[in-house]
Amino acid sequence: MLELQEKPVSAPKQGHPPFGLRQPASPLDWPDLENLDDPRALQARIDRIPIWHHKFELPGGVWTKGPFKPEERLHRFGIPQRLDGKTVLDVGAWDGFYTFECERRGAQVTSADTWNPEHLVTSEGYAVAHRALKSKALPIRVSVHDLDPALHGQFDLVLFFGVFYHLTNPFEALQKLRAVTRQTLIVETASDMRLARLPALRFYEGSELANDNTNWFAPNAAALIAMCKAAGFRDAKLQWRLPLPKALARSAYRLVRFGESPIQSFNRGRIVVHATV
Ligand SMILES: C[S@@+](CC[C@H](N)C(=O)[O-])C[C@H]1O[C@@H](n2cnc3c(N)ncnc32)[C@H](O)[C@@H]1O
Repeated sequence: MLELQEKPVSAPKQGHPPFGLRQPASPLDWPDLENLDDPRALQARIDRIPIWHHKFELPGGVWTKGPFKPEERLHRFGIPQRLDGKTVLDVGAWDGFYTFECERRGAQVTSADTWNPEHLVTSEGYAVAHRALKSKALPIRVSVHDLDPALHGQFDLVLFFGVFYHLTNPFEALQKLRAVTRQTLIVETASDMRLARLPALRFYEGSELANDNTNWFAPNAAALIAMCKAAGFRDAKLQWRLPLPKALARSAYRLVRFGESPIQSFNRGRIVVHATV
């Protein structure tokens, strides 16, 4: 007789351990956001924030302290130079660089993020930059999975940068994004499987992608385009990926410098897709 054996349960992938970070219920409701017009006071307030993601300039020549310079990637996204009269939703806004950039280009912006301290993300940097820039952007603490046009409205332009690969159900996220997009969704994500001819996503059981165990899936361009269309967008097109000669040069460099498999490094990179309603 067939004996049913209990399957060993492997430990599920965990998020980062909590870091003792606390944050107020409302994204802007941090203490000590007054008197930030003086550059030295602003710098001191910035210095007190333990974790930043974006490095960008605030009034008075003061810079935020993230490891990542989003300005260097701006050219990849194809965001219109002027957004006067447009509404923008920036999903996964974190410190808000793209929110404030769209506002600078004339848009009325809503910033959505979970700002979850268990993933070492808080809204404190966003709150300080928002105050320093006298921004009118509206921050809402919401997961992409809970976006609802009846509650949050629809937006001419929706930005979804650097979030796809953190999700266990990225297709559902695209469906939710479709529901709140009036014109265009721009998705930027880590990508994998560039060599595959068919639409394909790579699944990461552990921390194989960037040594970060909050990463789950990375699509190739064909998969992201197909997923956007299947989620209800009329059309989707690749806007940016590393051009072939540069991708080959990068693989050669990573082989020599780190001994990384050239197949793996060629497969991996970032992509940007525009999906239209
Ligand atoms: C890698 S960062 C990207 C930040 C920014 N968009 C950029 O490209 O520089 C990922 C961001 O997505 C947010 N995030 C993660 N899961 C989310 C979810 N389910 N809904 C909304 N935001 C989420 C994180 O809190 C974090 O701010």
